[in-house]
Amino acid sequence: MNRFPKKPLLQVTGLRVGFQTREGEVSPVDGIDFEIHAGEIVGLIGESGSGKTMTGYSILSILPHPGGIRGGDIVFKGRSIIKLGEDEMRPLRGKEIAYIFQDPTTSLNPTKTVGWQIKHILEKKWGEETGSPNGWENAYKPRTLGLLKDVGILSPEAVMGLYPHNLSGGMLQRILIAMALSCSPDLIIADEPTTNLDVIVEAQILKLFLHFRAKFHTAILFISHDIGVIAETCDRVVVLYAGKIMERGSTRDILRSPVHPYTVGLLQSNPKIEDEGERLFQIRGELPTLHDLPLGCRFNPRCDRAMPICEKREPRLTKVNGDHLVACHLYE
Ligand SMILES: Nc1ncnc2c1ncn2[C@@H]1O[C@H](COP(=O)(O)OP(=O)(O)OP(=O)(O)O)[C@@H](O)[C@H]1O
Ligand SMILES: [Mg+2]
Repeated sequence: MNRFPKKPLLQVTGLRVGFQTREGEVSPVDGIDFEIHAGEIVGLIGESGSGKTMTGYSILSILPHPGGIRGGDIVFKGRSIIKLGEDEMRPLRGKEIAYIFQDPTTSLNPTKTVGWQIKHILEKKWGEETGSPNGWENAYKPRTLGLLKDVGILSPEAVMGLYPHNLSGGMLQRILIAMALSCSPDLIIADEPTTNLDVIVEAQILKLFLHFRAKFHTAILFISHDIGVIAETCDRVVVLYAGKIMERGSTRDILRSPVHPYTVGLLQSNPKIEDEGERLFQIRGELPTLHDLPLGCRFNPRCDRAMPICEKREPRLTKVNGDHLVACHLYE
Protein backbone atom coordinates (compact mmCIF):
# COMPACT_ATOMS: atom_id res chain seq x y z
CA MET A 1 0.00 0.00 0.00
CA ASN A 2 1.22 3.48 -0.79
CA ARG A 3 1.55 5.42 2.47
CA PHE A 4 1.75 8.66 0.56
CA PRO A 5 -1.13 8.82 -1.90
CA LYS A 6 -2.28 11.82 -3.93
CA LYS A 7 -0.22 14.71 -5.15
CA PRO A 8 3.19 15.36 -3.64
CA LEU A 9 3.75 18.34 -1.36
CA LEU A 10 6.89 19.21 -3.31
CA GLN A 11 7.75 18.16 -6.82
CA VAL A 12 11.11 18.95 -8.35
CA THR A 13 11.46 18.23 -12.07
CA GLY A 14 14.52 18.68 -14.24
CA LEU A 15 16.01 21.19 -11.80
CA ARG A 16 19.18 22.76 -13.12
CA VAL A 17 21.25 25.32 -11.22
CA GLY A 18 23.95 27.37 -12.94
CA PHE A 19 26.80 29.53 -11.76
CA GLN A 20 28.51 31.90 -14.12
CA THR A 21 32.25 31.69 -13.44
CA ARG A 22 35.32 33.09 -15.18
CA GLU A 23 35.89 29.69 -16.80
CA GLY A 24 32.30 29.52 -18.02
CA GLU A 25 28.98 28.30 -16.70
CA VAL A 26 28.92 25.34 -14.27
CA SER A 27 25.89 23.34 -13.13
CA PRO A 28 26.21 22.01 -9.58
CA VAL A 29 22.67 20.63 -9.94
CA ASP A 30 22.09 19.29 -13.42
CA GLY A 31 18.57 18.13 -14.13
CA ILE A 32 17.28 16.32 -11.06
CA ASP A 33 13.81 14.98 -10.29
CA PHE A 34 12.33 13.98 -6.95
CA GLU A 35 9.23 14.51 -4.89
CA ILE A 36 8.27 14.72 -1.24
CA HIS A 37 4.83 13.89 0.09
CA ALA A 38 3.27 15.41 3.19
CA GLY A 39 4.68 13.74 6.28
CA GLU A 40 7.49 12.04 4.39
CA ILE A 41 11.20 12.21 5.17
CA VAL A 42 13.34 12.14 2.04
CA GLY A 43 17.11 11.87 2.34
CA LEU A 44 19.42 13.66 -0.08
CA ILE A 45 22.84 12.05 0.08
CA GLY A 46 26.13 12.61 -1.67
CA GLU A 47 29.75 13.54 -1.06
CA SER A 48 30.82 17.08 -0.29
CA GLY A 49 30.27 19.25 -3.38
CA SER A 50 27.63 17.01 -4.98
CA GLY A 51 24.99 19.78 -5.01
CA LYS A 52 22.89 19.00 -1.93
CA THR A 53 22.84 22.50 -0.46
CA MET A 54 22.30 24.12 -3.87
CA THR A 55 19.24 21.87 -4.30
CA GLY A 56 17.92 23.00 -0.90
CA TYR A 57 18.65 26.66 -1.67
CA SER A 58 16.83 26.38 -5.00
CA ILE A 59 13.63 25.32 -3.24
CA LEU A 60 13.67 28.47 -1.10
CA SER A 61 15.04 30.59 -3.94
CA ILE A 62 18.08 31.67 -1.93
CA LEU A 63 20.89 30.65 -4.28
CA PRO A 64 23.95 32.84 -3.72
CA HIS A 65 24.96 35.30 -6.44
CA PRO A 66 25.92 34.59 -9.28
CA GLY A 67 23.94 31.37 -9.10
CA GLY A 68 20.45 30.87 -10.42
CA ILE A 69 17.92 28.30 -11.54
CA ARG A 70 18.49 27.67 -15.24
CA GLY A 71 15.88 25.03 -15.93
CA GLY A 72 13.20 22.71 -14.63
CA ASP A 73 10.40 23.38 -12.18
CA ILE A 74 9.65 23.30 -8.46
CA VAL A 75 5.99 22.83 -7.57
CA PHE A 76 5.01 23.32 -3.94
CA LYS A 77 1.42 22.57 -2.88
CA GLY A 78 0.36 22.50 -6.51
CA ARG A 79 1.90 25.89 -7.39
CA SER A 80 5.04 26.46 -9.42
CA ILE A 81 7.29 28.57 -7.21
CA ILE A 82 10.21 28.86 -9.55
CA LYS A 83 9.20 32.18 -11.05
CA LEU A 84 7.76 33.80 -7.94
CA GLY A 85 9.06 37.25 -7.16
CA GLU A 86 10.78 38.07 -3.90
CA ASP A 87 7.50 39.48 -2.46
CA GLU A 88 5.65 36.25 -3.13
CA MET A 89 8.50 34.03 -2.01
CA ARG A 90 9.17 35.75 1.31
CA PRO A 91 5.91 34.65 3.00
CA LEU A 92 6.69 31.02 2.12
CA ARG A 93 10.08 31.08 3.83
CA GLY A 94 9.92 30.01 7.45
CA LYS A 95 6.14 29.77 7.51
CA GLU A 96 5.59 27.04 4.94
CA ILE A 97 9.12 25.90 4.21
CA ALA A 98 11.71 26.18 6.99
CA TYR A 99 15.43 25.75 6.42
CA ILE A 100 17.85 24.49 9.03
CA PHE A 101 21.15 25.78 7.68
CA GLN A 102 24.31 23.69 7.51
CA ASP A 103 26.14 26.44 9.38
CA PRO A 104 24.08 27.30 12.51
CA THR A 105 25.75 30.70 12.83
CA THR A 106 23.91 31.92 9.70
CA SER A 107 20.58 31.53 11.50
CA LEU A 108 21.44 32.92 14.92
CA ASN A 109 22.26 36.43 15.96
CA PRO A 110 25.26 36.19 18.32
CA THR A 111 24.23 39.34 20.19
CA LYS A 112 20.71 38.23 21.13
CA THR A 113 19.41 35.68 23.62
CA VAL A 114 17.72 32.46 22.55
CA GLY A 115 14.41 33.76 23.95
CA TRP A 116 14.68 36.95 21.89
CA GLN A 117 15.41 35.03 18.68
CA ILE A 118 12.42 32.72 18.98
CA LYS A 119 10.16 35.59 20.05
CA HIS A 120 11.29 37.56 17.01
CA ILE A 121 10.19 34.75 14.67
CA LEU A 122 6.87 34.28 16.46
CA GLU A 123 6.15 38.01 16.39
CA LYS A 124 6.85 38.09 12.69
CA LYS A 125 4.32 35.36 12.12
CA TRP A 126 1.56 35.96 14.67
CA GLY A 127 2.02 39.72 14.88
CA GLU A 128 1.48 40.04 11.14
CA GLU A 129 -1.40 37.63 11.06
CA THR A 130 -3.44 39.03 13.96
CA GLY A 131 -2.39 42.62 13.55
CA SER A 132 -2.21 42.86 17.34
CA PRO A 133 0.38 40.80 19.14
CA ASN A 134 -0.94 39.66 22.51
CA GLY A 135 2.22 40.52 24.34
CA TRP A 136 5.15 38.53 25.51
CA GLU A 137 3.78 37.19 28.81
CA ASN A 138 0.45 35.98 27.43
CA ALA A 139 1.31 34.68 24.02
CA TYR A 140 4.93 34.46 22.98
CA LYS A 141 6.54 33.37 26.21
CA PRO A 142 4.35 30.28 26.79
CA ARG A 143 4.76 29.31 23.13
CA THR A 144 8.55 29.79 23.28
CA LEU A 145 8.78 27.72 26.47
CA GLY A 146 6.59 25.05 24.87
CA LEU A 147 8.78 24.90 21.77
CA LEU A 148 11.96 24.57 23.83
CA LYS A 149 10.38 21.78 25.90
CA ASP A 150 9.28 20.08 22.68
CA VAL A 151 12.87 19.89 21.49
CA GLY A 152 13.93 18.30 24.76
CA ILE A 153 15.33 21.29 26.64
CA LEU A 154 14.82 20.56 30.31
CA SER A 155 15.20 24.07 31.72
CA PRO A 156 13.69 26.29 29.02
CA GLU A 157 13.39 29.40 31.25
CA ALA A 158 17.14 29.36 31.86
CA VAL A 159 18.02 28.59 28.23
CA MET A 160 15.89 31.49 26.98
CA GLY A 161 18.28 33.86 28.72
CA LEU A 162 21.42 32.36 27.14
CA TYR A 163 23.35 33.58 24.10
CA PRO A 164 24.37 31.29 21.20
CA HIS A 165 28.00 31.17 22.41
CA ASN A 166 26.81 29.73 25.75
CA LEU A 167 25.36 26.67 24.04
CA SER A 168 26.83 23.29 23.08
CA GLY A 169 26.50 22.03 19.49
CA GLY A 170 23.63 19.72 20.42
CA MET A 171 21.80 22.48 22.25
CA LEU A 172 22.27 24.87 19.30
CA GLN A 173 20.83 22.29 16.96
CA ARG A 174 17.80 21.86 19.25
CA ILE A 175 17.24 25.62 19.24
CA LEU A 176 17.44 25.69 15.43
CA ILE A 177 14.89 22.89 15.24
CA ALA A 178 12.63 24.80 17.67
CA MET A 179 12.97 27.87 15.45
CA ALA A 180 12.19 25.85 12.34
CA LEU A 181 9.10 24.38 14.01
CA SER A 182 7.91 27.68 15.44
CA CYS A 183 5.74 28.52 12.43
CA SER A 184 4.49 24.95 11.91
CA PRO A 185 5.89 24.62 8.37
CA ASP A 186 4.72 21.93 5.96
CA LEU A 187 8.28 21.22 4.90
CA ILE A 188 11.58 21.46 6.74
CA ILE A 189 14.83 21.34 4.80
CA ALA A 190 17.42 20.10 7.30
CA ASP A 191 20.91 20.59 5.85
CA GLU A 192 23.41 18.29 7.60
CA PRO A 193 21.70 18.86 10.96
CA THR A 194 23.87 16.40 12.90
CA THR A 195 27.21 16.62 11.15
CA ASN A 196 29.19 18.22 13.97
CA LEU A 197 27.56 16.30 16.81
CA ASP A 198 28.81 13.25 18.69
CA VAL A 199 26.93 10.01 18.09
CA ILE A 200 24.83 10.16 21.26
CA VAL A 201 23.59 13.70 20.61
CA GLU A 202 23.15 12.81 16.93
CA ALA A 203 20.86 9.92 17.87
CA GLN A 204 18.81 12.25 20.11
CA ILE A 205 18.42 14.83 17.35
CA LEU A 206 17.42 12.20 14.77
CA LYS A 207 14.78 10.96 17.19
CA LEU A 208 13.43 14.50 17.46
CA PHE A 209 12.91 14.70 13.70
CA LEU A 210 11.04 11.39 13.75
CA HIS A 211 8.97 12.59 16.70
CA PHE A 212 7.94 15.81 14.95
CA ARG A 213 7.10 14.05 11.76
CA ALA A 214 4.81 11.75 13.74
CA LYS A 215 3.29 14.61 15.77
CA PHE A 216 2.85 17.30 13.11
CA HIS A 217 3.02 15.32 9.87
CA THR A 218 5.85 17.65 8.79
CA ALA A 219 7.67 16.63 5.62
CA ILE A 220 11.46 16.79 5.79
CA LEU A 221 14.15 16.98 3.14
CA PHE A 222 17.03 15.53 5.11
CA ILE A 223 20.41 16.43 3.62
CA SER A 224 23.44 14.41 4.71
CA HIS A 225 26.69 12.96 3.43
CA ASP A 226 26.28 10.10 5.93
CA ILE A 227 24.22 7.20 4.59
CA GLY A 228 24.10 5.75 8.13
CA VAL A 229 22.18 8.82 9.33
CA ILE A 230 19.88 8.66 6.31
CA ALA A 231 19.23 4.98 7.01
CA GLU A 232 17.93 5.75 10.48
CA THR A 233 15.69 8.62 9.49
CA CYS A 234 14.35 8.55 5.95
CA ASP A 235 11.50 6.89 4.08
CA ARG A 236 13.11 7.42 0.70
CA VAL A 237 16.59 8.31 -0.47
CA VAL A 238 17.96 10.32 -3.40
CA VAL A 239 21.64 9.64 -4.15
CA LEU A 240 23.32 12.64 -5.77
CA TYR A 241 26.71 12.63 -7.50
CA ALA A 242 28.22 15.73 -9.16
CA GLY A 243 24.77 17.24 -9.64
CA LYS A 244 23.07 14.15 -11.06
CA ILE A 245 20.85 11.54 -9.46
CA MET A 246 22.59 8.16 -9.47
CA GLU A 247 19.92 6.19 -7.67
CA ARG A 248 16.59 6.83 -5.99
CA GLY A 249 14.24 4.61 -4.05
CA SER A 250 12.80 3.59 -0.70
CA THR A 251 15.35 3.45 2.11
CA ARG A 252 14.76 -0.29 2.19
CA ASP A 253 15.63 -0.67 -1.49
CA ILE A 254 18.70 1.55 -1.20
CA LEU A 255 20.03 -0.23 1.90
CA ARG A 256 19.15 -3.82 1.08
CA SER A 257 19.40 -3.89 -2.68
CA PRO A 258 21.50 -0.96 -3.86
CA VAL A 259 22.35 -1.27 -7.53
CA HIS A 260 24.50 1.73 -8.45
CA PRO A 261 28.22 1.08 -7.80
CA TYR A 262 28.38 4.54 -6.18
CA THR A 263 25.59 3.71 -3.70
CA VAL A 264 27.23 0.34 -3.00
CA GLY A 265 30.51 2.18 -2.31
CA LEU A 266 28.80 4.65 0.03
CA LEU A 267 27.27 1.78 1.99
CA GLN A 268 30.50 -0.21 2.16
CA SER A 269 32.41 2.80 3.39
CA ASN A 270 30.00 3.60 6.20
CA PRO A 271 31.05 2.39 9.65
CA LYS A 272 27.46 2.52 10.93
CA ILE A 273 26.29 0.06 8.30
CA GLU A 274 29.26 -2.21 7.63
CA ASP A 275 30.07 -4.73 10.39
CA GLU A 276 32.61 -3.67 12.93
CA GLY A 277 35.96 -5.33 12.63
CA GLU A 278 35.91 -5.41 8.85
CA ARG A 279 38.30 -3.05 7.13
CA LEU A 280 36.24 -0.29 5.65
CA PHE A 281 36.12 0.18 1.94
CA GLN A 282 36.87 3.57 0.41
CA ILE A 283 35.66 4.74 -2.97
CA ARG A 284 38.82 5.54 -4.91
CA GLY A 285 39.47 8.95 -6.42
CA GLU A 286 37.45 12.04 -5.84
CA LEU A 287 34.50 14.06 -7.11
CA PRO A 288 35.30 15.70 -10.48
CA THR A 289 35.39 19.48 -10.72
CA LEU A 290 32.36 20.94 -12.44
CA HIS A 291 34.57 22.65 -15.06
CA ASP A 292 36.04 19.37 -16.13
CA LEU A 293 33.38 16.68 -15.95
CA PRO A 294 34.14 13.26 -17.40
CA LEU A 295 32.27 12.30 -20.54
CA GLY A 296 29.49 9.75 -20.23
CA CYS A 297 28.68 8.72 -16.69
CA ARG A 298 30.13 11.24 -14.23
CA PHE A 299 31.11 8.44 -11.87
CA ASN A 300 32.91 6.33 -14.50
CA PRO A 301 36.56 7.27 -13.62
CA ARG A 302 35.99 6.02 -10.06
CA CYS A 303 33.83 3.01 -10.90
CA ASP A 304 35.20 -0.53 -10.57
CA ARG A 305 32.52 -1.83 -12.92
CA ALA A 306 32.91 0.75 -15.67
CA MET A 307 32.47 -0.49 -19.26
CA PRO A 308 33.49 1.21 -22.54
CA ILE A 309 30.01 2.70 -22.96
CA CYS A 310 30.26 4.45 -19.57
CA GLU A 311 32.84 6.86 -20.99
CA LYS A 312 30.73 7.61 -24.04
CA ARG A 313 27.11 8.03 -23.11
CA GLU A 314 25.43 9.35 -20.04
CA PRO A 315 23.09 6.73 -18.54
CA ARG A 316 19.40 7.57 -18.17
CA LEU A 317 17.50 7.15 -14.92
CA THR A 318 15.91 3.72 -15.45
CA LYS A 319 13.39 1.76 -13.42
CA VAL A 320 14.75 -1.15 -11.37
CA ASN A 321 11.33 -1.89 -9.94
CA GLY A 322 8.47 0.16 -8.48
CA ASP A 323 9.90 3.55 -7.56
CA HIS A 324 13.48 2.26 -7.39
CA LEU A 325 15.41 4.00 -10.17
CA VAL A 326 19.06 3.96 -11.20
CA ALA A 327 21.22 5.80 -13.73
CA CYS A 328 23.79 3.16 -14.67
CA HIS A 329 24.63 1.34 -17.93
CA LEU A 330 24.76 -1.95 -16.03
CA TYR A 331 20.97 -1.73 -15.71
CA GLU A 332 19.88 0.19 -18.79
N1 LIG B 1 29.32 30.74 -5.58
C1 LIG B 1 29.62 29.69 -6.34
N2 LIG B 1 30.23 29.83 -7.55
C2 LIG B 1 30.51 28.76 -8.32
N3 LIG B 1 30.23 27.49 -7.99
C3 LIG B 1 29.63 27.29 -6.80
C4 LIG B 1 29.28 28.36 -5.91
N4 LIG B 1 28.70 27.82 -4.81
C5 LIG B 1 28.67 26.49 -5.00
N5 LIG B 1 29.23 26.18 -6.19
C6 LIG B 1 29.40 24.84 -6.76
O1 LIG B 1 28.35 24.01 -6.34
C7 LIG B 1 28.88 22.77 -5.93
C8 LIG B 1 27.93 22.13 -4.99
O2 LIG B 1 27.84 22.86 -3.82
P1 LIG B 1 26.90 22.42 -2.62
O3 LIG B 1 27.15 23.43 -1.55
O4 LIG B 1 25.50 22.24 -3.07
O5 LIG B 1 27.50 21.00 -2.21
P2 LIG B 1 27.05 20.04 -1.02
O6 LIG B 1 26.65 18.76 -1.63
O7 LIG B 1 26.06 20.75 -0.16
O8 LIG B 1 28.43 19.83 -0.26
P3 LIG B 1 28.73 19.76 1.32
O9 LIG B 1 28.48 18.34 1.73
O10 LIG B 1 30.18 20.12 1.39
O11 LIG B 1 27.87 20.74 2.01
C9 LIG B 1 30.24 23.13 -5.35
O12 LIG B 1 31.12 22.08 -5.38
C10 LIG B 1 30.68 24.23 -6.27
O13 LIG B 1 31.33 23.65 -7.38
MG1 LIG C 1 26.07 21.44 1.74
